[in-house]
Amino acid sequence: MRTSVSKLLAGLLLLLLGSCYYDELIEEEVPDIPDTEEISFATDIEPLFTACTACHDGSVANPDLRAGNAYDALVPGYVVPGDAEGSEFYQKLPGVGHPFDPGVVLTSSEIALIKAWIDRGAEDN
Ligand code: HEC
Repeated sequence: MRTSVSKLLAGLLLLLLGSCYYDELIEEEVPDIPDTEEISFATDIEPLFTACTACHDGSVANPDLRAGNAYDALVPGYVVPGDAEGSEFYQKLPGVGHPFDPGVVLTSSEIALIKAWIDRGAEDN
């Protein structure tokens, strides 16, 4: 009994340390996008998903990221407008926390762009 309680505590501690480390990684890697830089879903965000649609095509994997479908598949649900860190889509982006290595890479500036788009209200513009 005693050992299983301490194993549990050790496990929790590791989990806690792990998540702090992970948060720091995200903060350091993602550069800020200046407020003056306009972000358009159609021209800046959706084109980034062409790397994803081999799988995220509405049948193999969710969300459906094909052009024309992506916005409705993401908002609301995967994307909480105004809260990138609280959005499952951001949390699970390749380079942030995709469930596995999908073999495609988003650069840190692309991740930053997606983050800023969500934080600024995730508009369909
Ligand atoms: C090689 C195939 C593949 C590629 C390429 C890929 N993904 Fe995925 N992705 C998956 C699979 C499979 C899952 C598991 C979700 C599911 O079961 O529907 C997933 C999960 C996700 C999730 C979490 C969805 C959930 O419901 O938990 C997000 C967000 C995501 N991918 C975003 C992306 C983005 C953005 C790209 C492109 C930059 C991408 N993925 C590229 C296969 C892929």
